[in-house]
Amino acid sequence: MKKAVLFGAGQVGAMVSNLIGSSYRVICFADNCEDKWGEKLFGIPVVSPAESISFKPDLVCLCVTGNERIAEMKDQLKKLGFDGEIISAETFKLFDSRAATLRLLAEQINANNTEGDCAELGVFRGDFAALINGAFPGRRLHLFDTFEGFREIDVEREKGFGFSKAGAGDFSDTSEESVREKLPYPEKAVFHRGWFPETFRGLEGLSFSFVSIDADLYAPTAAALPVFWERLSPGGAIMVHDYNSLQYKGVKKAVDDFCTEIKILPFPVPDLHGSCVIRK
Ligand SMILES: C[S@@+](CC[C@H](N)C(=O)[O-])C[C@H]1O[C@@H](n2cnc3c(N)ncnc32)[C@H](O)[C@@H]1O
Repeated sequence: MKKAVLFGAGQVGAMVSNLIGSSYRVICFADNCEDKWGEKLFGIPVVSPAESISFKPDLVCLCVTGNERIAEMKDQLKKLGFDGEIISAETFKLFDSRAATLRLLAEQINANNTEGDCAELGVFRGDFAALINGAFPGRRLHLFDTFEGFREIDVEREKGFGFSKAGAGDFSDTSEESVREKLPYPEKAVFHRGWFPETFRGLEGLSFSFVSIDADLYAPTAAALPVFWERLSPGGAIMVHDYNSLQYKGVKKAVDDFCTEIKILPFPVPDLHGSCVIRK
């Protein structure tokens, strides 16, 4: 089996370590950040680039984004004397496990005529909302967001737990109008602008077939899970983004606590930020 080094022990490296084919064995992550040396990511050691090359890998995958960084890292590997195969994780951008999972779930939910609307908490610029809307053309799509970014009240809790470095107002550069323009079936969209869970008031009678929770933070994720689960039709699905995120660690805590309570295991998805799916 060929030996591979994943250069970049961040979110992209984590994704590649899960997606890499069985003809490769990942021997280590390499990273330029000294603080990471000696750590493990998914049980795989993180070492310096020089040490990783001393293991004589057959392949190095550059797990970063941006052409400039990629060029720098190629140069660094050359200087370290590596003359094996180098590939870039940019290739993985061609494939999107999160979008593929949504499409496959939608096909099943639509074929089964599972009842209920669709919803997303955490819309930002509407990229994933547009995919949901396209995959469920006949269903109402409820879109929950402050459209002004993270709220102080959620960020306070986040900081209290030490889950992330989120700041109030992050993700504020968006608007309802720009999201609406992106949707293939805008007439199906219902916007709920403001702070969740307050914006759910008055909607208690709804039922859902597909829900995306992508609010990044612990507090809104923990608030949304019981609200949507209670109203999810049998056969429906909740997709939670950032379940395996290295940046927003509160999402996993919120999901795991909730799933333990309802005695269900979340199904992990190998996308960039590590989503998971909860089925009823
Ligand atoms: C990462 S963005 C969503 C990205 C989007 N789903 C996509 O895939 O393109 C997270 C969003 O969650 C929203 N958000 C976080 N906490 C919220 C809360 N308590 N109520 C409403 N929106 C919230 C933020 O305003 C932000 O737009």
